[in-house]
Amino acid sequence: MSVVMLKDRAAAFEAIDGVEEGGFRDAVLRGLALPHKMIPSRFFYDERGSALFEDITRLEAYYPTRSEMAIFEGHGADIAAHLPETRALVEFGSGSSLKIRAMLKAMPQLTHYAPIDISGEMLTREAQALSADFPDLEVVPIHADFMSPVELPKELREIGKLAFFPGSTIGNLEPYEALEFLARVRDTVGTGGHLLIGVDRKKDTETLVRAYDDPEGVTAAFNLNLLARANRELEADFDLSGFAHEARYNADRGRIEMHLKSLKEQAVSIGACRFDFTEGETIHTENSYKYAPDEFRLLARAARFEPVATWTDANERFAVYLLQSEG
Ligand code: TRP
Repeated sequence: MSVVMLKDRAAAFEAIDGVEEGGFRDAVLRGLALPHKMIPSRFFYDERGSALFEDITRLEAYYPTRSEMAIFEGHGADIAAHLPETRALVEFGSGSSLKIRAMLKAMPQLTHYAPIDISGEMLTREAQALSADFPDLEVVPIHADFMSPVELPKELREIGKLAFFPGSTIGNLEPYEALEFLARVRDTVGTGGHLLIGVDRKKDTETLVRAYDDPEGVTAAFNLNLLARANRELEADFDLSGFAHEARYNADRGRIEMHLKSLKEQAVSIGACRFDFTEGETIHTENSYKYAPDEFRLLARAARFEPVATWTDANERFAVYLLQSEG
């Protein structure tokens, strides 16, 4: 049993009062008060977390980035051949610069590139670099949260659109959220529009777990950075050596789960709140759902997207799907 103990009622209310709705403090205080403790994964990406994530994508054990890149590089021309009418590429969450460059090179028919990102800084930086390298391309950055409905600028309304969502980021959503997300993308590209999406496949447990628990310990550092961030930003006193990174494959649910496991019975203070941990109790920090091709195409159809083509890498670990909106 774990309970939230308020050391001092007044101080606790003050702590909760100063909480910015939807902010890190709010999420941590609420998440750690749940019977199964959790912290939402969107808080991984502070400056340190973003740098560690970059390192993850280059790890030998983390096969998804390399496998997906091989698909875009090896099948770019074939992908482009399915899209003769497409003029605009709309990227959901920018920052995957190498992948976008591979697609832009493969698709000379494009006139517009519209990256959507919540980070204005990232958006401006990437837009400038791409404008310089693709001078004939109109770059239209859209500063927005792609998890909410996105309205496209006028110049994009009447032209053929391809949405781009690489990195198996859809796997970090619960399946019902993935369905809602696909339906919103469908609204954005409109009838006849397309979505090119990268999705990690189900495979043997060992390969999956190794990708999320690499021998170098980079993913462990990435996960533990959440607690370090709480110490830095929330006056928390997590003992980082008292928690360990854990990646498990939950075969029933078809997902990798990342947890932070308490190595001992301990209490942690965050401002005026106290959270007790039993030995072995975990904080659930992220899921990464894996889809067999048939399962993913079923999900796509449920969102009224028709699967047009599927590509996989030589080892058949990762899949890229081209879907078309049925309107
Ligand atoms: N969406 C990718 C995946 O689930 C990348 C990713 C998100 C990731 N969070 C992660 C990779 C945490 C490793 C650890 O694989």
